[in-house]
Formats: sequence, structure tokens, C-alpha cells
Amino acid sequence: MSSIKNIKDFAKMKQAGQPITMVTCYDYAFARIVSETDIDTILVGDSLGNVVAGYDTTIPVTLDQMIYHSSMVKRGAPGSFIVTDLPFMSYHVSIEDTMRNCGRIMKETGTNAVKLEGGKDFVPVVEALVKASIPVMGHLGLTPQSVHKLGGYSVQGKDEEQRKTILEDALLLQEAGAFAIVLEMVPEPLAKEITQRLAIPTIGIGAGRYCDGQVLVIHDLLGLNKGFNPKFLKRYADLYTISQQAIQTYHKEVKEHTFPAEENVFK
Ligand code: KIV
Repeated sequence: MSSIKNIKDFAKMKQAGQPITMVTCYDYAFARIVSETDIDTILVGDSLGNVVAGYDTTIPVTLDQMIYHSSMVKRGAPGSFIVTDLPFMSYHVSIEDTMRNCGRIMKETGTNAVKLEGGKDFVPVVEALVKASIPVMGHLGLTPQSVHKLGGYSVQGKDEEQRKTILEDALLLQEAGAFAIVLEMVPEPLAKEITQRLAIPTIGIGAGRYCDGQVLVIHDLLGLNKGFNPKFLKRYADLYTISQQAIQTYHKEVKEHTFPAEENVFK
């Protein structure tokens, strides 16, 4: 059973020194599996653009797709605390547009919170959402929606200027009312410093050992995303191979007339 029921539990877990576990989920079947583990919270990440839809970036992901996938996850994990990623350009145009988009997410999916990428520039957006009672998770460091500006998927915060910006952004997001912040691909010492300076928890992916929690993309941790081997990733299973072997065995048995067998037949 997950330990997180609401945003207050994030802060409580940080205070108690209990690591927060988060995985992404994009559909009913995986949400059911996750909801029957002790994982604390689920992220419907726009990484679905990569691992489900097969795009090179998360940029093509739409608001309607995030709503569709989040509602599937909610049906599979009705008791879990679910965070839905705001897709590219759904919170950039204006506060009014953002509120309309987030209103749709909250009403149509039953999700508990939204996550957005960026720091200082998005403080007014975070403030407006929090004011409207929509909990916000921040996301700093490598922010995949900015891949074209960043020039690739590399570690962020390595030089002093970037380091200071990420730290300041984290403090600003906290002040604006974010209840937690994802830190993606930043050096461990920077993630440690941010984690120590914030009252709200940090959830790391490629951000080292000292964050208050960790998040992984479920396809990556289960070994479904063949060929994706970043240093930060640990594969806990090889479902790509297991699935392929099962499908191949089914194919072989049909060809050999051993499936369907006696026990699979209605009489
Ligand atoms: O979209 C996503 O899955 C994410 C995680 C990598 C944190 O933002």
C-alpha cells in the first residue's frame, strides 16, 4: 500500500527521513500492477511520448493525450496519489490558458496534482495554480521539453552559473507553493545541497543518492526500453526478452499444432 494519500504526506516523509518512491505509469494494466505494490506515488509522465508513442522527444505530446492516459491510470490505481505532467505549451501561453488546461486535467482524470518543467519564469503559473487549489510538482535540471534550447539530454548544473540558477529556481518554486520538485540529471552534490536547503522534498532521476525520493520511468526499470542505457538507470527486470520469448513460444506452438491444447478447448 502506498504511504502517500495527499500533498502533506510528501513533507511528512521528508521530515521522517523516509525515501519517497515514484514510478511513471501510462495505462490501466501497469497502474493496476503498481497499485498492488508499496510504491508511494505515480507520475503520468509526458515521457509517454518516448516510451509509448515512440517519438524522439516529449514535445509532440498533447493535452488530450495526457488526459486520456491519466484517466486510464486513475482507473487502474484509484487509491494512489497520481501526478500528471503538463505537456509542452499547455502552461506557456498565458495564465488563463494554463488554468483552463489544468482545470480539464483535474476534472476529466481525477489526478491529484500536476507537474511542470522550469523555474523562475514559471513562478506566476505555479502561484496561480496553487491559488486555484491545484497542487504543483516542479521539475528542474534536465527539462526534456527544453531539449532544443539545451542542445541535448545532458547533465545540467555542472558549471557555477547553472548551479546557482537551479538552486535559486528550486527556492523560488518552493516559495511559489510547489509541494515537491523533481531533479533530473544534475550532479549529486548540487542535488544534495538543494535537498538540504528545501523544506519540500526533492525526487531525483539521475540526481544521485541524497534526494528525498527517486523516480524512474516504468518501461526503463522493467527493461522494456531496449537500447536506453543511461548511467543513472538500474534495470530491475528484462521484460523485453521475457515478452519476446513468450510471444515466440506462442507462435511456435500454433505452428506446431500444440496450442490450443485439449485444456483450452470448449466441449
Ligand atoms: O515524463 C517523465 O516521465 C518525467 C520523469 C522522468 C521525471 O518527467
